[in-house]
Amino acid sequence: MMRTRFTKLVGCRVPIMLAPMADVSGGSLAAAVLRGGGFAFIAAGHARDEDRTKLDAEVDIFRAEDNSGDSFGVGFIGHSSMKSDNMKRVEAILDRHKPLAAQFFAPAFAATGTNVKLCKDKNILVFAQVGSVEEAREALAYGVDCVIAQGREAGGHGLRSELGTGTLPLAARVVELTRELNPATIVLAAGGITDGRGLAAALSLGCDGIVLGTRLWATKEALGDSTGKKRDALLRAEGDDVVRTRTFDAIQNVDNPHFWPAPYDSVGALKNKTTESFHGKEEELIAKITGGDVAVLSSYREASKNCDITRTCVLAGEGVGGIKQLDGAEDVIKMVEEEAIAQIRRMNGMIT
Ligand SMILES: Cc1cc2nc3c(=O)[nH]c(=O)nc-3n(C[C@H](O)[C@H](O)[C@H](O)COP(=O)(O)O)c2cc1C
Repeated sequence: MMRTRFTKLVGCRVPIMLAPMADVSGGSLAAAVLRGGGFAFIAAGHARDEDRTKLDAEVDIFRAEDNSGDSFGVGFIGHSSMKSDNMKRVEAILDRHKPLAAQFFAPAFAATGTNVKLCKDKNILVFAQVGSVEEAREALAYGVDCVIAQGREAGGHGLRSELGTGTLPLAARVVELTRELNPATIVLAAGGITDGRGLAAALSLGCDGIVLGTRLWATKEALGDSTGKKRDALLRAEGDDVVRTRTFDAIQNVDNPHFWPAPYDSVGALKNKTTESFHGKEEELIAKITGGDVAVLSSYREASKNCDITRTCVLAGEGVGGIKQLDGAEDVIKMVEEEAIAQIRRMNGMIT
C-alpha cells in the first residue's frame, strides 16, 4: 500500500489520478481506475447542455459499475465553463452529482477565484491544473486544495510550448512554492508519465501523486475511439512522434464556438501529414483559412470524419512510447503501483 497526502485526501489506495479527458474519461474508465486503487475524474468538458447530458449518462454508468464508495471527481474546461453566463451550469452539475472534487483547467481559476469559492461553499475539493510557475502561484493564492503541475510533455491541451515548463522542473518548483505559500496544498505531477518509474520520480520530487492521461486513453475502457485506429497509433508511437503544436487548434478553431483561446491553443499530439505541413506556420495557415481557402479545412474535416490518423489529430503525451499493449485500466493502475514500489525499494538499496 502506498500512502501519500493525496491518497488520504481522496481516500484511494494508489496515488494515481485519472485525468478528466473530454470525450475519453467516462464512467467505465473511472470505475476501472477505482477498482485498480486510483482516483478518477469524469470529464464535464465545457459544461454545455450537451456535455451535461453526456456527463449524466457517464456518471450513471460509473455508479452502476462502482461499489467502492461512489467517490469521484468532475473536470471542467476552464475557459468555457467558467464564463459568467455558464457558471450556473457548473453549479447545477456540482449540485446534481455531488463529486468529491472538481478540477478546472485552462485556466484553472476564474477572475477573483469564483470557481474556487463556489466549490468551497459546497465542500467540494478544488483541483487546479497549471502549466507554469506563475499559474501555480495564482492557484495557491486562491487556496485550491490541489495543484496539478502539467508539464509541456503532456498529451492534450496545455500552454503554448514557449510559455510552459517541462514536468520535472515544474513539479519540483510547484512543490517548493506550495511549501512556502500554502503547505496544506497537495501537488500532483502530470505530463509524460506512463509507468511506475514516473510515479516514483514524481514522489521523489516531493509530489503527492501523479495524473495519467495518455496511459489511460490507451485502455480498453476509454471512450472516443470507436474505430480503434487512434489507440493502435498510440501503441505504435514513440515519444519522438509527439509534438506540442498549435496546428490542430488553428484548423479546428475556425467554426468552433468553444475554441481554446491563447495561450492554451496547443496540444500534445502525434505528428502526421497535417503537422508536417503546418507546424510552426500557424499564422500562415490561419490567414489562408480566413482568406477563404477552403481546401485545408475540407480535407481536414474529411480526414477527421474517416479517422484518417495520417491527417487528423491524435492526442498523445511524450510518454506514449512506454505503452505497448491495450490493457484494461484496472491492470494499468496495478502495474504502475507495483513498478513504483519496486523502484522505490531498488533506490532504497542504493543507500549503504
Ligand atoms: C486525449 C486527451 C484529452 C484530454 N482532455 C482534457 C480535458 O478535457 N480537460 C483537462 O483538464 N485535461 C485534458 N487533457 C490533459 C490531461 O488533463 C493531462 O494534463 C495530461 O493527459 C497529462 O499528460 P499525459 O497525457 O502525458 O499523461 C487531455 C489529455 C489527453 C491525452
